Formats: sequence, structure tokens, C-alpha cells
Amino acid sequence: MIVLGIESSCDETGIALYDSEKGLLAHTLHSQIELHAQYGGVVPELASRDHIHRAIPLIEEVLQQARIKKSDIGGVAYTAGPGLIGALLVGASIGRSIAYGLGIPSVEVHHMEGHLLAPMLEERQPEFPFVALLVSGGHTMLVDVEGVGEYKILGESLDDAAGEAFDKTAKMLGLGYPGGPILAQAAEAGDPHIYKFPRPMTNRPGLDFSFSGLKTFSLNTWNKSNKSEQDRANVARAFQDAVVDTLAIKCKRAMEQTGHNTLVLAGGVSANQGLRQKLAQTAEQQEFKLFYPRPEFCTDNGAMIAYTGYLRLHSDNNSGLDFNARPRWNIEQNR
Ligand code: KG4
Ligand code: ZN
Repeated sequence: MIVLGIESSCDETGIALYDSEKGLLAHTLHSQIELHAQYGGVVPELASRDHIHRAIPLIEEVLQQARIKKSDIGGVAYTAGPGLIGALLVGASIGRSIAYGLGIPSVEVHHMEGHLLAPMLEERQPEFPFVALLVSGGHTMLVDVEGVGEYKILGESLDDAAGEAFDKTAKMLGLGYPGGPILAQAAEAGDPHIYKFPRPMTNRPGLDFSFSGLKTFSLNTWNKSNKSEQDRANVARAFQDAVVDTLAIKCKRAMEQTGHNTLVLAGGVSANQGLRQKLAQTAEQQEFKLFYPRPEFCTDNGAMIAYTGYLRLHSDNNSGLDFNARPRWNIEQNR
């Protein structure tokens, strides 16, 4: 069966075709970075309007890439939440309409489940059960994954998500939008020995996170510095090291607590090289296996939605005209 996947929960329109026999047939993405850059962050109404313009041409594009016809599609999967309500409604209404028009089933996909299963798109796939560290712009969580749809949240962020903290800190340092990759780049030139930032919530038990204090710590450190390019890089480096270390400490704890031998890293921040290197070291020391998707499948994309939709289609599909978008949606209750 060929599944069309539609991702439109935030500032990226991602479209893909996944074939149960041949794997991923085609995928494409339009990023709205330029559209939102002048405002320093995502403007929800502009995001929705842009998804409307982009979705259909991108669907035509993947059909051409895969050299298939619309009538070859056997099911449609779209992100139903969590995310921006207007942006979600665009993907949901287009997805449902296409399914209704073609007389095929459609299925709602939980955005974070898409991230969680994205490493399955690679040749080297993790085996269940595993622990997943999901680090995106909207969420940071450690999940005990027993199988598809069997998720237990072990810990999550009590305030800012890791990606959100990257974005806000980058903005404060005058680095621009989107903050994560720009801050990571600035950090490369930073000296790791100049500043030492705290590792929040690591000196008490538990697997929850709190990153908002690191933002303030960065701002205070930056304001007390001479504000040179090197100072900026040093603060960026100290901030990134603090986030990375904190995530690594909690991952190690989650592995010990569950007894699993596989860790899966996913979501936008999993593209961070510093985080990948640190977790690779931890995995080697603690003798567990580490998996993550290729960088373009760490951040939002249609491939993870098409794949998750394919896994979900046989169990719960809905082909009617009604649809739902869920700006807030707990991954444990997504069925
Ligand atoms: O998963 P994603 O594309 O969207 C959400 O579901 O939120 O994640 C986007 C987040 C943003 O906060 C972005 O700044 C962050 O991931 N990000 C990074 C890197 N690439 C993207 N953060 C740190 N280092 C990176 N290389
Ligand atoms: Zn995402």
C-alpha cells in the first residue's frame, strides 16, 4: 500500500509517499523560515496561509518524483496535533478531502509519534523496546516505548522545551531565527572552559527537565561580558554544553531505570552534533545502542508522518468527512 503523508503542524509543509513494499518513494518539504524571519519567530496566521498555497503543488511534486498516479495512493496520513491549530487544520482538511475524493482511508497522526518512529525510516532500525529522547521546539520528553502505540512518558520538560530554549537564547544573543542551528554554529567557535552553566534538575531524582533558567543564565552572562563575537560564541557554547549534558545525564538515568539497551534520539534538536557526540560517548560507556534519523528527518518532515500513518492505517482509519485537529495531545493517549 502507498501512503501519502502530510505534515503541517508548524512552519514546514512536508509531503511524502511511503510504500509498504518499497519503503520511502519520495519526499519534499517547504520551509517557511524566510517568511517568519523578519518577525523573529513563527506567526501562526501566516503559517496557515502558506501551508494552503504549498500543500497541493508539493503533493503533485512527490507524485511526479515517485512516477505514480493519484489513483495509486492507498491511504492518507496527516498530522492532527499537537501544533498550531490553523496550520493543523490545513493538513487535516486537505488530507481528509483527498481520501474522500479517492475513496481511500485516512488516518490522524500524532506529530511526536512521527518523530519517535522517524529512525525506522533508516536502514539500521532500532528494535523494541527502547527509550526515546524526543527533543523538539515544542516538546522535550523521555518515553518508554514497548511497541508502536505503547508509550509511557518517563519525564518531560516542566517549562521550555529544549528547542524552545535554543531559540529564545539565540534571540537574546542576537543570533536570529531559527535559533537552534544558528546557536549550534556559533557554539563551535566558543571556548568550553570560560563559563560553566548549571545542569538543571540533575542533582535530584527523576526524569523531568527544566530549561528556562538556562536562558536567564545566558542573558545575565552575556550582559556582564564585553559582548564581543568571542563572548557570544563562549556563551552559546556554555549554553549548548549545559543542555546537552543535562539531556545525557537524564538519558543515562532512563536507561538504568527501564533496563532497556536501546536509546532512540529524535526531534529537531537531535540534529545537534554536540548532542549526538555526547550521547554516542554515553552509549559507549554504558553499553547501550544509539539510533537517530538522518538530519532532514530529525526536524519536521512528511516522511515520518507517511510512515507512522502506514503503521496506523490498518488499526484505526476514518474515511468520513469529519475531522479533528488537536493543538494539545498527549502521546500516551493517542489511541
Ligand atoms: O522537531 P522540530 O522540527 O519541530 C517541532 O516539532 O517543534 O524542531 C524544531 C526545533 C527548533 O527549536 C530548532 O531550533 C531546533 O529544533 N533545532 C536545533 C537544531 N536544529 C533544529 N537545535 C539545536 N541544534 C540544532 N542543530
Ligand atoms: Zn516536530
